[in-house]
Formats: sequence, C-alpha cells, structure tokens
Amino acid sequence: MDLSEAQKPDVAPATASAYLDPNYWDRRFEQEEHYEWFKDYSYFRHLILQYVKPNSAVLEVGCGNSQLSEELYRDGITELTCIDLSSIAVEKMKQRLLSKGYKEIKVLEADMLDLPFGDECFDVVVEKGTMDVLFVDSGDPWNPEPATVSKVMAMLEGIQRVLKPHGIFISITFGQPHFRRPFFNAAAFTWSVEWRTFGDGFHYFFYILKKGERASDDAEHAAKIDMPSINLFHEELDSEDYLFRTDLDEL
Ligand SMILES: C[S@@+](CC[C@H](N)C(=O)[O-])C[C@H]1O[C@@H](n2cnc3c(N)ncnc32)[C@H](O)[C@@H]1O
Repeated sequence: MDLSEAQKPDVAPATASAYLDPNYWDRRFEQEEHYEWFKDYSYFRHLILQYVKPNSAVLEVGCGNSQLSEELYRDGITELTCIDLSSIAVEKMKQRLLSKGYKEIKVLEADMLDLPFGDECFDVVVEKGTMDVLFVDSGDPWNPEPATVSKVMAMLEGIQRVLKPHGIFISITFGQPHFRRPFFNAAAFTWSVEWRTFGDGFHYFFYILKKGERASDDAEHAAKIDMPSINLFHEELDSEDYLFRTDLDEL
C-alpha cells in the first residue's frame, strides 16, 4: 500500500546535480518503496502496447522502483529484463517482483553506459526518465557539454547495439524534440524517429525509434506525428522532485 503524502520520506536532493551521483540513488531507494517518474503506465499504456507484444524480449533501462515492468507483465509481456545502476533498487525490485510471483522478470545491476548484453538480443528497449538524468548539469541545452554528449551517445550506441534488427527503442521523457532529435538523428544510428505525447496539462514525450528504418532524409526531417500543445501547469511540475531545467527553461 502506498504511504500517505504525510508519511512519504523526503527523498528530494538539495541540488539537481545529485541525480548524477549513484550514491544519491542508493540512499533514496533505501527509503522509498515506489515512485513513478512523470506518469504511471495507465497514461501511456495505449502507446506502449502498440510496440511491445507478448513475445517481445524487452529491456527496461534504469527501472528504479517503478512499476512499469510489472504492469507490462500483467499485460502479458513476460520476457522482461530490468537494469539499474543502484544495487539497492535492484535488490528491492527483485524482492517485490518475487513477492508478487513475477519470477520470470530478470533484474540486474548494470550501467546503461556499458550494457552487459550481447548484440541484437532485445526486441524493445524502454527507458522512462533515465536518459534525462544524463542531461542534469549539461550546460546550454542547445549546445550541451562534451561530457553530456559522450554519455548520451554511449547510452544510445549501447541500446542500438543490443536491439535486434528492426527492434524498437522507446524513450519516455519530458525532453522536447528540438533537444532530443540531434542525438537520436546522429549519424551513428540507423533508427527512424517518431514521437507522440501523453499526459494532461504538461505533455510528456513518447519517442519511438525503429532500428534500421531511417529514411535517407530523416536526419533533417524526423517524422513528426503529433504536434504537442505544451501547457505548463506549474503545480504539476512542482510536484516532480526534480526539474530538468534545461528543457523547462525553454518553454
Ligand atoms: C529518474 S529515475 C527513473 C526511474 C524509473 N525509470 C521511473 O520511471 O520511475 C532514473 C533511474 O536511473 C537510474 N540510473 C542512473 N544512472 C544510471 C546508469 N548509468 N545505468 C543504469 N541506471 C541508471 C537511477 O538509479 C534511477 O533508478
């Protein structure tokens, strides 16, 4: 059962740069049982089930203490692997899934910048709010720091490598297309890029990257399906316990 608001531990860091510190996440997950970044599964279920099928081998990157994997499992997707850098998150996730009887879901401590999987072994890779962590302290959002660029590229290169031919990378974020497209469309990648939005008030982005399906002119004109109407409701943003200022400042 979820704790009431008054009983919830205060896990917000003093500064956003703590989100880059693995110790921060360990300390946080010691205290916190469940937190869903952005929105829970019910908000994007209609989107994700278009791309994830019951026979899909799925990797979730940076699972934290989210319920995404168990929600997918309940929807019949059982070949699931979750990774996180935090050993505490991993241990607690294993216990929680076992206690619910979802023993087929694999949970591993692993770094998304150095994925410990062979080439071409997943049909779908999904991340929610995990790549965004790399953008904390990234400097000018139009021209991120070289350290940010190299980490984001390492993450994306690893994801492309572990995806099967025509596999799909799903990135759920509030990173807007003008900041994400330069990365997704980099010459190193072969995927096509599309996105949808979801949420009420503030719209989150649901990117769909299909490996090997980039059209020759995609680098300049990534497919755009749904023009978001961006409405910031500050109460909602304030309820997030970190703000990726780089994006929000541009709205
Ligand atoms: C913002 S939280 C998102 C958690 C979860 N995906 C959700 O939607 O609620 C970011 C997660 O990424 C994990 N993380 C940060 N850096 C990582 C890395 N290099 N490799 C794997 N996981 C990482 C953190 O431990 C944390 O669980």
